[in-house]
Amino acid sequence: MNSTAYFHKIKSLFIQSFKEKLNLTSREASIELNLIFQHVMKCKFSQIITNSFEISKKKESQIEKLIEKRLSGTPLAYLFREWSFYGRKFYVNNASLIPRADTELIVDLLKDELKSHQNLSLLDLGSGTGVIGISAKLEIEQITELTLSDISKRCVELINKNLYFHEVKANVIQSNWFKNFPLNKYDIIVSNPPYIDQNDRHLDDLKFEPKKALISKKNGLNDIEIILKEAYDYLKENGAIYIEHGYNQGKDVIKLFNDNGFQKNKCFKDINGNERVSRGYKLN
Ligand SMILES: C[S@@+](CC[C@H](N)C(=O)[O-])C[C@H]1O[C@@H](n2cnc3c(N)ncnc32)[C@H](O)[C@@H]1O
Repeated sequence: MNSTAYFHKIKSLFIQSFKEKLNLTSREASIELNLIFQHVMKCKFSQIITNSFEISKKKESQIEKLIEKRLSGTPLAYLFREWSFYGRKFYVNNASLIPRADTELIVDLLKDELKSHQNLSLLDLGSGTGVIGISAKLEIEQITELTLSDISKRCVELINKNLYFHEVKANVIQSNWFKNFPLNKYDIIVSNPPYIDQNDRHLDDLKFEPKKALISKKNGLNDIEIILKEAYDYLKENGAIYIEHGYNQGKDVIKLFNDNGFQKNKCFKDINGNERVSRGYKLN
């Protein structure tokens, strides 16, 4: 069948189920179907529609399999095994969190706040896919040394794959927060740790992503507390730490920054106007 006719057939067959089963608007459902086509056909969506061409039976079956899996709830990122962050492609697997647009705020803040510095070392803790550290290194020339770490072996493998893909050099450490770290000191530490409380109703929508990447004890604050307790010893004088947290955790996180000796502590809002990242300095 030619690509335009096939696409229209699939759209009329599945758009309603996408809307109903996945709770999407017509526009979102249509975008998802376009993305599935684009992914399998490895071309721009406009080419499928404007330059109609024959679609092989094999490609048709790939498209239909992805649609079936998506309708059973699997996120597109896990179906494609890649997702975009800060305008770049990153490989993902089901041991890693799917990178979120909200997290891009950390990279924006680093770009803004590190402008006047030189030769900085940066540690990305709980790096998952490596998105924060790798994007920061690619965006900010002042960062000359990069370390990425995660507790999960599969995330460490993924971090190495993304480093290779983006041709970025870094130290990669598998560790339960700082447990396996040599006592190196860093100029900047960043982390997007697990911060969702185990009873949070939003977890129902996140059942395909690993619990280890999402859930933390003590109302979601346990891992942030551990990191802030230990990070002070791993920061150089005048160094800074940036932590992503839940939209309603800003006040509690700033208290943890204060309790652990950090100064000039500040909470920043994300693109949706929610408190999302807090930053503090280690000063004399
Ligand atoms: C919310 S995800 C963030 C992933 C990535 N940094 C991002 O922003 O997309 C949290 C990450 O922390 C890792 N993690 C959870 N507990 C950890 C621990 N005790 N020590 C180190 N990493 C941990 C998880 O494996 C996961 O990759």
